[in-house]
Amino acid sequence: MTALAAELSAIAGAAFAAEGLSASFGQVQRSDRPDLAQFQCNGALAAAKVAKANPRAIAEKVAARLKADSLFAKVEIAGPGFINLDLTDDALALRLGTMAKDKRLGAPESGDGKVLVIDFGGPNVAKTMHVGHLRSSVIGDSLQRLFRANGWHVTSDIHLGDWGLQMGQLISEVAHRGIAPIYFDADFTGPYPVTSPVTMDDLEVMFPAASAACKADPARLAEARQATADLQAARPGYRALWQHFFNVSKVGLDREFASLGVHFDLWKGEASVDPITGPMVEDLKARRIAVESDGALVIPVERNSDKKEMPPLILVKSDGAVLYGTTDLATVIDRVASQDPDLILYVVDQRQHLHFEQVFRAAEKAGIAGKATLEHAGFGTMNGTDGKPFKTRAGGVMKLFDLIAMVTAEAEKRLAEQGIGADYSAEERAAIARMVGIATLKFADLSNYRLTDYIFDLERFSRFEGKTGPYLQYAAVRIKSILRKADEKDFAPAARAVLTSPEERALILQLLGLADAMSGAEARRAPNILCEYAFELAQAFSRFYAAFHILSESDDAVRASRLGLCGLTLAVLTKVLDLLGIEIPERM
Ligand code: ARG
Repeated sequence: MTALAAELSAIAGAAFAAEGLSASFGQVQRSDRPDLAQFQCNGALAAAKVAKANPRAIAEKVAARLKADSLFAKVEIAGPGFINLDLTDDALALRLGTMAKDKRLGAPESGDGKVLVIDFGGPNVAKTMHVGHLRSSVIGDSLQRLFRANGWHVTSDIHLGDWGLQMGQLISEVAHRGIAPIYFDADFTGPYPVTSPVTMDDLEVMFPAASAACKADPARLAEARQATADLQAARPGYRALWQHFFNVSKVGLDREFASLGVHFDLWKGEASVDPITGPMVEDLKARRIAVESDGALVIPVERNSDKKEMPPLILVKSDGAVLYGTTDLATVIDRVASQDPDLILYVVDQRQHLHFEQVFRAAEKAGIAGKATLEHAGFGTMNGTDGKPFKTRAGGVMKLFDLIAMVTAEAEKRLAEQGIGADYSAEERAAIARMVGIATLKFADLSNYRLTDYIFDLERFSRFEGKTGPYLQYAAVRIKSILRKADEKDFAPAARAVLTSPEERALILQLLGLADAMSGAEARRAPNILCEYAFELAQAFSRFYAAFHILSESDDAVRASRLGLCGLTLAVLTKVLDLLGIEIPERM
């Protein structure tokens, strides 16, 4: 099934083409003035410029062709040459029926089996995840759900930060504390203990201590650098320690991502490409793509057309250690070998944009990306109500775990205020609060275009009215309750639409817009388009529901049609919220 706006664009495009104009002028979109028309096409204005003709005259010719199509109930020209369009009720009902019968609800098939590797999350081993990693996780998870729904073959990879200087800092911190001398004993031949000498709680204390020590004391920094290089050169005791750090961190990360409802297909990290890094470096050297510079090995990536400075990508430092760009480059090779992707999408803070530009250029120069397009889908900062990066009350970095606890507590408070769930069991109330809390957090984040910084205002985003996650959950739960009360035996979401009112038409148009919203969100890698769509759907439903007494309707066909609309609205809302990673409680 083609998305409705796309279907109409093809029809209008053919009309322009029949007038000897480019079919691309036939772009049709939902009307800016829903009170005047359902759809509009503005192409005559642009076409007039190209053809040096009068826009109204072009609009009239195109409109005359469109009028011949029985799909349209109205074709009108407005202003300087806008074409306003309404579909017939039959056309709407027919498309709605097709959508309702489709398990995918008419979702686009833009993926067509194409392969996507999506890199997001990116927490660092031995450091607790903080809100800085939240946006990557929430946006990345929504994008993986969306691309999958649109027919892509998707593999998500968390790409843990587990190979840089922070690992060397931790190793030398363990050495200084004398906790586990065996790992530093050059004569020891193994095997090393199975139990980790440190817990996640230890790491949380040790990491800040280690990085402070390295800042204060150049000798400590040199030690940490040496430990990093030795680790990367496969010193057995360091590798064993590294594995412990990795294992204890993974347990903590698993727990946090599970509570966020975020899933990764792969838990690979920077370290996982270590075995292919040596051969990669040799190959790049042999092909003279990597060159010596001040004792380091670099790939120059500047171009004549550059307007800003473009430093070379550093592959190997003079002490032999590899860097973030090296592991990213080797990871491209790994992904191309294992998935042969069409697209690799990196959902990472926009402040790393230069890094990705360097990596992408280096990959292109080295010819290692296969058929893959490499693309950075960046995002801005989550700020507090003071407009500065979000912090705890005490001014520290807010950990994700505490943030989830905070939004859940706020949800509990709100639910109690509304008197929701007073008679439910404590477990059910807690489960609802959790879902509402997560919805608060995710919707707040996703409803802003990813590149804009936004202010996380808990008070505003936890409300049950306005453009919020809880509002949409509540809207869906309300439809569930209507359908429960209707108790219709042969109820099916197929709407069997009998159209009698503007409210019904508006709701149907919104329902039919699902595929366009999903395509648009994919094209711009922008879940906020789905948020907007879901909000407008809930509002269209609300106006429809306010206009009619559905349950007490005496005309059977009308009642069935309206219940069908309720059912389809619920199905669509559930689907879109699922694309946002938001669950809907059974009742609230
Ligand atoms: N670990 C990195 C950080 O915390 C993010 C990793 C993003 N992914 C990548 N392929 N570089 O900033």
